[in-house]
Amino acid sequence: MDYFARRKIAPILAEPQATENVIVMGWVRTRRDSTNLSFLEINDGSTLHNLQIVVENPDRFPELEKIKSGAAVRLVGNLIPVPQRKHKIELHPEEISLVGDCPADYPLQKKRHSFEYLREIAHLRPRTNTFGAVNRFRSKIAYAIHKFYQERGFYYMHSPIITATDAEGAGEQFWVTTFDLDKIPKIDGRVDYDKDFFASQTFLTVSGQLEAEIMSLALGDVYTFGPIFRAEKSNTPRHVSEFWMIEPEMAFCDLDENMRLAGEFLMYLFEYALNECSEEMEFFSRWIEKNRITTLETLLKSKFEIVTYTEAVEILKKAKMKFEFPVNWGVTLQAEHERYLCEQHFNAPVMVKDYPKDIKAFYMRVNDDDKTVAAVDVLVPQIGEIIGGSQREERLDVLKKQVELFGVKEESLWWYYDLRKYGSAPHSGFGLGFARLLMYMSGMANIRDVIPLPRTPRSAKF
Ligand code: 4AD
Ligand code: MG
Repeated sequence: MDYFARRKIAPILAEPQATENVIVMGWVRTRRDSTNLSFLEINDGSTLHNLQIVVENPDRFPELEKIKSGAAVRLVGNLIPVPQRKHKIELHPEEISLVGDCPADYPLQKKRHSFEYLREIAHLRPRTNTFGAVNRFRSKIAYAIHKFYQERGFYYMHSPIITATDAEGAGEQFWVTTFDLDKIPKIDGRVDYDKDFFASQTFLTVSGQLEAEIMSLALGDVYTFGPIFRAEKSNTPRHVSEFWMIEPEMAFCDLDENMRLAGEFLMYLFEYALNECSEEMEFFSRWIEKNRITTLETLLKSKFEIVTYTEAVEILKKAKMKFEFPVNWGVTLQAEHERYLCEQHFNAPVMVKDYPKDIKAFYMRVNDDDKTVAAVDVLVPQIGEIIGGSQREERLDVLKKQVELFGVKEESLWWYYDLRKYGSAPHSGFGLGFARLLMYMSGMANIRDVIPLPRTPRSAKF
């Protein structure tokens, strides 16, 4: 197939040079014919832009007749720079082969399709300009995430995907079992998990954090970057049932240092996107959300606002706006509150810290006031929360009290206690939702459109 001999379109367009006998393969985006000339635009997925193909004397090529938009083709020919034209370089083929034809009912016609329609054909949408750009961007930002941590001496850890714990204590887990659901073994009316595959109740993980703590209390600085599963029934543009999360965990690190790292991490990614993903950022700025580039540039020059939860509640109580969910000390902040803080009050991203302990997770470090915990959420305009983090409770006695208070099942936490028993140390970390980050950077309004094949309640089609 000449896989290694072929040229990709991205480098051809980046450095237009006359070259003979170049092999190119891709999918036809458009075809136009005139007397004695045929024009094809082909795209191979390596870049947003198409390669312009100019076919002289089309009658020479018997297969050309059958080539329509959507078809997979292989071309061999000469690259000719045309500096005066917008496309800068074109290929004049000597050989044209139809690799896979495409009938006229191809669902991606030349007009612009709605994102809702494209979600129904998620297997074809990466071939559109928008979803090509989103998915190339996703890959580049994933690389930047590794680069950020690796440059700082963090070790990449793979947290298990099947776990026996409920890390967030929210009970929003998918169960993992090999039981025949029609014949579940029971003792005295209760499920006999001892007979299940792992001899205990197990779930898909909602966070790699607890296991990252194990590694952090041995290797110092670690991070996880892997899939997370949440059985929340929230059908919003910001929630999915499966997404990837980045969770750094640092030993000998307190909440303020944790927040500093979170801020530096986000800024690094914004800068990386502006410098290394200019093709995608320009596309987003033009077609997805006006001025996305300027927004990120402004952000880079600003600083995160930092407020305590108590201060945030005071601000919200004084707000002129009427919220659907009323605000009082002790309530969970809703997206409408988070967005008010960022968009109306501060006009900037905000870090809110020291939340009431009852509304956060059992593992967060209890503050001296015994009412709040050393937790932080990073909020951004349009989306609300993109990061949730905390300093972890390192004092065994306090942790045990929290576990009791939250009614967390202790059986699966013996090893978590051991980490506090043997050489405990203050440690902190946070979780960044990868999809929410991509939404924020690209301006894509629905989380389903920054995930290749999204899973949401009642939908796991592809
Ligand atoms: O705030 P969360 O629940 O924090 C944790 O899981 C901690 N264990 C992280 C840590 O400290 N290591 O989730 C972290 C982030 C959220 O801020 C949000 O960006 C994203 O994960 N997130 C979701 N993204 C998409 N769909 C969902 N259903 C999400 N739930 C959380
Ligand atoms: Mg959270």
